[in-house]
Amino acid sequence: MTEAILLVGGQGTRLRPLTSHTPKPLLPVAGVPFLAHQLARAAAAGVTRIVFATSYLAELFEAEFGDGAGFGLELEYVTEEVALGTGGAIRNAAERLRCAPDEPVLVFNGDILSGLDIAALLSNHRASGADVTLHLKTVADPRAFGLVPTDTSGRVVAFLEKPQTPEEIVTDQINAGCYVFTRSVIDRIPADRVVSVERETFPELLSSNAFVQGVVDDSYWLDLGTPAAFVQGSADLVRGIVASPALPGPTGEALVLPGARVHPSAVLSGGTVVGAGAEIAEGAVIEGSVVLPGAKVAARVSVHASVVGRHAQIGEESSLDAAVVGDGARIGAGNELSPGLRIACGAVLPAHSVRTSASPAPCAEQSVAFSGVPHASSAAH
Ligand code: GTP
Repeated sequence: MTEAILLVGGQGTRLRPLTSHTPKPLLPVAGVPFLAHQLARAAAAGVTRIVFATSYLAELFEAEFGDGAGFGLELEYVTEEVALGTGGAIRNAAERLRCAPDEPVLVFNGDILSGLDIAALLSNHRASGADVTLHLKTVADPRAFGLVPTDTSGRVVAFLEKPQTPEEIVTDQINAGCYVFTRSVIDRIPADRVVSVERETFPELLSSNAFVQGVVDDSYWLDLGTPAAFVQGSADLVRGIVASPALPGPTGEALVLPGARVHPSAVLSGGTVVGAGAEIAEGAVIEGSVVLPGAKVAARVSVHASVVGRHAQIGEESSLDAAVVGDGARIGAGNELSPGLRIACGAVLPAHSVRTSASPAPCAEQSVAFSGVPHASSAAH
């Protein structure tokens, strides 16, 4: 038996308003809840049992995945009444593990889309005798990430905060959000208080001379924490740039879910997904975007790199570019939503009345549009 802990308790603030009613790991990505891709890949790598560490909108996870039989997995759910942070969540979920102290436990963030060879990471951990093995990824621009330098043998020598100056960029390796812990190491994390695994547990392990190793795997990797990454990840799955056993159709330029209606003159491209029950009218052009279930896109609308929320409506000849429209929002005809703009769930924009830009206009989320630039990715803390 190989066990895993899946961290899914975060609020997903960078993806609001999409995460107002749906936790980030359950948002549809390439037509299925994002976690379906992770669960299918974990099962394929030999994981047999997964404990979900839930907190925000906790009850929705079990309602979606039940006992896990559909994935050939045994699933358990643990809920933090108050979110315990990544390290606290791992410690809390470990109460439900069944493995022995010297056995490996896979731990993964519930928002990373990757082509990581999970089985190889596990066997590497077993062979090396490490206390913890981290998946590391090299990136061209490490400025937005915590850095993880290693020595020539792969042993981690430091955990560094985001670099502030060029001199502080001592490596291009970042923490990719997937780990293998030897079980007894998890049991040493303090119980019942907030702990960050990235900022507290890992540095403390180094201070106490624990054997923490990093394994670089440069296959596909994306932190789906921001709207731009969310649409990119979905499009990459649909186009087959990253493989998933959970993809509910053949790869191609677009994925249209059963029950959706797309007018023959509409053009879908760039890995666009049209969710169940959504409607796309004549002449609409949708590129590299996610149209969630039940949404309605009217005639001659243009949508690029954007998300249209569940049951949202986009009026005729409107255009969306890198925008997010919350669930149930109604955009009147002729509006232009420019990059970075987010429309709150249930908001109503009258026809033609708004020529929006991404200038800050913080407003109550349920009533009107708001805009904002998502903060830098924090998958690699
Ligand atoms: P942002 O609010 O947009 O930063 O997103 P997030 O809440 O998901 O935070 P982040 O991306 O840093 O979290 C990484 C992973 O850890 C995600 O899968 C989260 O669901 C999970 N996570 C973060 N904090 C907690 C927590 O306190 N408890 C649990 N159980 N999971 C957490």
